[in-house]
Amino acid sequence: MNTPDIKYLFEPRGVAVIGASATPGKIGYAIVDNIVSSGYKGGVYPINPKGGEILGRKAYSAVEEVPGEVDLAVIVVPAKFVFEAVETCAKKNVKFLSIITSGFSETGNIEGEKKIVNFAREHGMRVLGPNIFGTFSAKVSCNATFGPKEIRHGNVAIMTQSGALGIAMIGKTAVENIGLSAIISLGNKSDINESDLLEYLVGDEGTKVIMMYIEGVQDGERFVSALKKATRLKPVIVIKSGRSKRGAMAAASHTGSLAGADEVFEDIMRQCGVLRAESLQEALNWSKFIANTPLPIGENAAIITNGGGVGVMATDACEKYGIKMYDDTHELKRIFSPVTPDFGSTKNPIDLTGGATSAFYDSAIKAGLNSPNIHSVIALYCETATFDVENLPKVTKSNFKAFQAGKKPIVFSLLGGEKVENCIVDMKNENVPVFADVYEAVACLGTMYRYYNYLKTDVEHAEDVEIDVDAINKVVASAQADHRSFLLAHEGQIVMKAAGITLPQSKIAHHIEEAIKYAEEIGYPVVMKVVSRDILHKSDAGGVALDLVNKAEVIDAYQAIMHSCRQYDSKARIDGIEVCEMVRKGTELIVGARLDKSFGPTVMCGLGGVYVEVMKDVSFRAASLGRREAHAMIKDIKSYPLLLGVRGEKRKDVEGVVDTIIKLATIIRKCKNITDIEVNPLLAYDVGEGVKAVDVRVLITKK
Ligand code: COA
Repeated sequence: MNTPDIKYLFEPRGVAVIGASATPGKIGYAIVDNIVSSGYKGGVYPINPKGGEILGRKAYSAVEEVPGEVDLAVIVVPAKFVFEAVETCAKKNVKFLSIITSGFSETGNIEGEKKIVNFAREHGMRVLGPNIFGTFSAKVSCNATFGPKEIRHGNVAIMTQSGALGIAMIGKTAVENIGLSAIISLGNKSDINESDLLEYLVGDEGTKVIMMYIEGVQDGERFVSALKKATRLKPVIVIKSGRSKRGAMAAASHTGSLAGADEVFEDIMRQCGVLRAESLQEALNWSKFIANTPLPIGENAAIITNGGGVGVMATDACEKYGIKMYDDTHELKRIFSPVTPDFGSTKNPIDLTGGATSAFYDSAIKAGLNSPNIHSVIALYCETATFDVENLPKVTKSNFKAFQAGKKPIVFSLLGGEKVENCIVDMKNENVPVFADVYEAVACLGTMYRYYNYLKTDVEHAEDVEIDVDAINKVVASAQADHRSFLLAHEGQIVMKAAGITLPQSKIAHHIEEAIKYAEEIGYPVVMKVVSRDILHKSDAGGVALDLVNKAEVIDAYQAIMHSCRQYDSKARIDGIEVCEMVRKGTELIVGARLDKSFGPTVMCGLGGVYVEVMKDVSFRAASLGRREAHAMIKDIKSYPLLLGVRGEKRKDVEGVVDTIIKLATIIRKCKNITDIEVNPLLAYDVGEGVKAVDVRVLITKK
C-alpha cells in the first residue's frame, strides 16, 4: 500500500473529528471548537452517532458519509472504540489519523496499538500518536488540538513527545511572543516519528527554526540521516530529558557500559549539527533569537558595555560558548575611540564607563554596526545615574532594526531597576533579543555561532573501507553454531585482519614445542595468553604471562598458565595458548563500535588503559561517519592533547586512529550479527608509525 504524502498531515483539505461532542468541557468539543475558531478554510466534519449539529457544523453519524475529502481524522473516542473508528477511516480513504485517545502502549496496551498501526498501514493510512493533544499548522490555519485556542502564528515549528509539556508550550510561546508555524504532538510514536515530520518541515517555507522535545529515540539511523539533511537547511533545537545514567546499557564490554544513553545522544546530536538546549527556557530563547536574527557573515564579535563588571562576565560567557572576540586592538581603537571617553577602553570589551549617556551608547553600537570587521555585537547596559534610561527602549529597538537590516546579529543584556525591567518586557514583546542575564544573552549568540560554524563544515557521507565481510560472517556463524555470544580471541583477530586493522604478531600453540617454535619465529620478548571460550577474563584466571625473554621462560609460562586456568575453572575448555609479540609501549586508546539500542550502529573512542571506566573520557558518533567526523570525535576527548605529544614527545599517529574508527564503523554497519567490538588498548605510535590493536573483544547475536 502507498503511504500518503506527509504534506496532508500539515495541509489537510478536510478534517473529521471522530468523537466530536456538543458537550462543552469534552475533548471532542474543544477540538471542533479550536478547528472552527482557528479560521481553517477546509472541510470540518464532526462525527457523532447522534448526528445533528456541533458548533454550527453538520455532524455525520459516520465518517463514510462525509461528502468531501478527509485527509485528517482526529480520533477522540474511548480506547475500546478506536480500532472500529480506524476501520471506518479506511473505507473513506482517510490519509492521516491523529489519535488523541490514551490507553495504549503507555499503559501496557501494546497489542491494541500495534493492531491499529498494522491495519492503518495496510490501508494506506499513517498514525500520529496515540496519546496526543493533536496538531496545529499555520499553513492552513488549522488548530486541531485540544490545547489553547489562541496560537500565535510565526516561523518556529515544535514537535513534542510530551503532551502536557506541548500544551504548556503553546501558552508559553504566546507569552514570549514566539510565533509558530506548526506544533505537533507525537505521543507514543506508534508510527509517525520525528524523522517523518522533519521531511515536511525542512521544505516548509513558513518554518525557519525547528524545535523538538524528545524523551527517547527510535529508529535512530533514520533520525540521524533526517537530522543531517535538516540542519543543513535550518537550525534544529532539541531538548531531551533524561540526562541520568539509567538508560545506560548493561553490557559485557566497556564500550557498552561507557555508552550512557545521554552521552551517546549528546555526541550524535552534535555530529548532526543539532543545537541541544538544557532547558525549555533556553530552547525558547534560542528559537526566538534565531527566528528573528540573520546569521552572521563572520566570526568577530564585539562587546559594548557601560559597566566593566558585566563586560568581564560577558567575556567569560563568550569563552564558554565559543564566540570569538575581535582582538585587533589597532582597528578597535580606530572604530571606537571617537565614541569612547578618554578614561574608557577601546579594547574588546569596549567599555564606555558608567558616565556614558544613551547618545554615547547609541553611537558606539552604531560604530560596531558600521565596521565591516565586526560581525556581531553583544550590547550590555547597567543602570547608572548619568544614563538617560528613558531613551533605553528607543536605542535598543532602533539598533536591533538597523542590525537586522545590516545582516548582523546583536543581543542585549540590560541590568537595573524597574524602568530597565519594564524596558526588557516591552522589548521582548517587540521581538528584540533583550535579556536581564548576561549568560542568557551570550548563549543565544553562541548558539547561533555554533550553527554558523557547523554550516561551514563540508557535508560528509559515510565512508566505507574495503573489508572482507564474508570472512567475518563466516567466523561469526561458526561461533553462533557453537551457541556463543562472543568471539574467542583468535576469532576476533580474524575479524580485525579482515578489516585490515594491524595486530601484534601472534600464533596459537597447542603444545609446548609449538609455543617455543612460535616464540622464536616472532622474536623475544613475547606474551602468552590462554585461549578459552570459558575464560573471558584471562588475567583473573592467571591466563596471561608477559615479557618472556627466552625459551626457558616460555616453557615455565606455558605450564603455569595451564595450571592456573585448570585451578580457576577445572571444566574450562582450553583451545590453546596464544604466543604474541610483546608490543612496545604506545599511547593507549580504546576504540569500539556497537549497535546502540536507540541509534543503531555507533562508534566510540577514548583514551584507554586501566582508568578508562573511571575517567569516562570517551566520545561517540553514529557509525555513518567520514574521516572529518572521526577526527572531530577524537578531538572531543578531553585528553586529546596527549595525542598531539606532550613534553617534547612526537605527535601520535592520529590518522591511524581515524583509520581504525572508520574500519570498525564499516564492520558494525555491514556485519549485522556483530553487536559490539572493542579494541582496548589500541596503541598509537608516533606519527607515521601506525597503531596496533592489542586486545579485541567481539560480541555477537546468539542463535
Ligand atoms: N464514532 C463517533 N463518535 C463516537 C463513537 C464513534 N464510534 N463512539 C462514541 N462517540 C461519541 C460519544 O457518544 C461522545 O459524544 P457525546 O458527548 O455526544 O455523547 C464522544 O464520542 C466522546 O465519547 P465519550 O465516551 O464521551 O468519551 P470522552 O470524551 O469522555 O473521552 C477520550 C474520550 C478520547 C477523550 C478519552 O478516552 C481519553 O483518552 N482521554 C485522554 C486524552 C489525552 O489525555 N490524550 C493525551 C493528551 S497529551
